Amino acid sequence: MAVTYNESTKIFTLQTAETTYQMMVGRYDILQHLYYGKRVDGSTMEYLLWGTDVGFSGNPYEAEGDRTFSLDTQPQEYPSQGVGDYRTSCLEVVNPDGSMAADFRYVSHEITKGAYTITGMPAVYDEEGNNSLGNNSLGSTTLSILLKDASTGLELVLKYGVFEKEDVITRAAELRNSTEGTVSLEKMLSVCLDMPFGKWDMIHFHGRHAMERQTERTPLCHGTVSFGSKRGTSSHHHNPSLLLCTPQTTEDAGDCYGMTFVYSGNFIAGAEVEQMGQTRVFMGIHPESFCFRLAPGDTFETPQVIMSYSDKGFTDLSHKFHKIIRDHICRGKYKYARRPVLINNWEATYFDFNEEKILKIASQAAELGIEMLVLDDGWFGKRNGDCSGLGDWFVNPDKLPEGLSGLSEKINAMGMKFGLWFEPEMISEDSELYRAHPDWALRIPGRKPNRSRFQLVLDMSRRDVRDYLFERMSDILSNARIDYVKWDMNRSMCDIYSAALPAERQGEVYHRCILGVYELLERLTSAFPDLMIEGCSGGGGRFDAAMLYYSPQIWCSDDTDAVERLEIQYGTSFLYPIGTVGSHVSACPNHQTGRITPFHTRGVVAMAGSFGYELDLNTLPQNEKEEVKKQVSDYKKYYELIHQGAYYRLNGAGAFHGQEFVAWSFVSEDKKQALVNLVITHTRANSKPVFIKLKGLDAAAVYRLEDGRCLSGSALMNAGICIPSASGEYRAVQFELNAQ
Ligand code: DGJ
Repeated sequence: MAVTYNESTKIFTLQTAETTYQMMVGRYDILQHLYYGKRVDGSTMEYLLWGTDVGFSGNPYEAEGDRTFSLDTQPQEYPSQGVGDYRTSCLEVVNPDGSMAADFRYVSHEITKGAYTITGMPAVYDEEGNNSLGNNSLGSTTLSILLKDASTGLELVLKYGVFEKEDVITRAAELRNSTEGTVSLEKMLSVCLDMPFGKWDMIHFHGRHAMERQTERTPLCHGTVSFGSKRGTSSHHHNPSLLLCTPQTTEDAGDCYGMTFVYSGNFIAGAEVEQMGQTRVFMGIHPESFCFRLAPGDTFETPQVIMSYSDKGFTDLSHKFHKIIRDHICRGKYKYARRPVLINNWEATYFDFNEEKILKIASQAAELGIEMLVLDDGWFGKRNGDCSGLGDWFVNPDKLPEGLSGLSEKINAMGMKFGLWFEPEMISEDSELYRAHPDWALRIPGRKPNRSRFQLVLDMSRRDVRDYLFERMSDILSNARIDYVKWDMNRSMCDIYSAALPAERQGEVYHRCILGVYELLERLTSAFPDLMIEGCSGGGGRFDAAMLYYSPQIWCSDDTDAVERLEIQYGTSFLYPIGTVGSHVSACPNHQTGRITPFHTRGVVAMAGSFGYELDLNTLPQNEKEEVKKQVSDYKKYYELIHQGAYYRLNGAGAFHGQEFVAWSFVSEDKKQALVNLVITHTRANSKPVFIKLKGLDAAAVYRLEDGRCLSGSALMNAGICIPSASGEYRAVQFELNAQ
């Protein structure tokens, strides 16, 4: 059984293939955390609890003369504020009487088959299209624990999803206002994980626009280290994920924990090392600018956190996250079906295009084997630059006289699919939509709003706004053959105020907006089940598991420079499967950095993702056109390996500190085939040979290399291999191995 409750010890044990999670209904019915880590059998872990009289750490009233039991030092599952735990809390409420305290104690629990769902939000599902509770054929188990604050009657439900084979535990919580009055919810995180022992490093992925998911590893010290987003999106600046590991953990060995948030809006995540050296890890909706009013009977549900653990280092942990996200978050036809190799016109034309230009790009692309043309920003309303037109989702006949249907028919006639860019959540002040509905934009009455890229954000919490967008998008999608939508979002949110909500509900707007985005995406994906959506927010500003529920790939970064992409894609690979990474070959000198890299290198780097092009192929010399043909056919050949195979970072942690190359590989599930990739990032005179040790091969198998050599898996993994012809600035090497 994945979840058991022992009535006599009052211990819950959540068991996955390689991990154990334990908690206990402890003294005074407080739900105490006992353990999360490598699988343990045949023992319960309450012996780990300790208690001494810690000065200034008070004791629950029930403890009477016992000064050794304190909420301030005991590991807990879901600590709340105001009752004696001074560490980071998960929950803050203002009760009907104005007091700010909650003290939840165990009441009951339920163990059911199948994955739990969260109203209006994505969550890890069990079997696609069938995540209802109670179906015995499902492989996961849900534990729901009901707790109650005796003084107010507030009820809290903690949910644990146990995915046994995948080694994943998900967590979420729900607060029910079962009091007689209105409660103001000021903070409600999704998870707290107390780690009573150990010294830990935290790894997180920070960045900025066009430079997302840079890897940073920091030893934790006393106090709180936290990061997050208050931008209304999960953001370029901090990905909503973290790893916790021992100082010794490497790619191939050591304890590590991972958490990723299934949410695309404001979040906070971090870790606190407290007075006794214990560590509390937390993640949830950012409490700033958040306040939900719960009338009697109302509930609030948090988004979900996905957690996993490995004692075998980061690679194994990444594989667990890749699998759960690929198989139990991504949905729809293109979850497994091969996605078309695309060409996007953005960096080829920006706003300056007409039908003729687009058809010229498409016909050259079709000739070279590319399968879909994506028409980016600028096809609608008055949109000849970024100052106007957002919201007016009507085709611009000056640019496309035969409309989208005319254009898509011509592209289809070339044997290609057609895709289209939208930025649904935005509105330009210079648009027909804004002139008709100024109140649809988020802005605070009496204040001038902050502009970003000259645009304002639509109030996605409003049903009428979403209805308008659904009507416009479905009209366009029904009247032309459109196989793909790039869903963009190009600014951070502020001036948060909804004209449709009363003053006391303005603290709900950030969260209601993201719920609105999910609702619109759900409506659209249900109405157009074959449509493939690629998420985007100025590149990777909303690269999170929740968006992957609607769009199986996300444009990873507006930075298309192959060398910069190495680092961005490296950071992304810790949590997200490679197939979710939108990645294109673009022109040189690169538009973001001015760097010149070989065409071959750009192809190798873009193939570590969902592959495409973003340049005018007509401008390429013949030899590069030939290279496009080869890249497209190589990518199709290796598609399964790249999308379904195991991904290995071959440099080891710290790939970008003092190393002169970056290497990675894909290994098929049966270990019979592998694809090795390497890019030289720093050429030196009289350069040393480049050696790498391969990973994930079958030690006993003999592999044939492309140069005809046959070497055993154990030699390739333990002794390594010298990479042939690897010198030269930004040169790439890509080669295949096949087991004999
Ligand atoms: C930002 C995206 O990331 C780009 O690829 C492009 O679609 C532009 N927006 C268009 O405005």
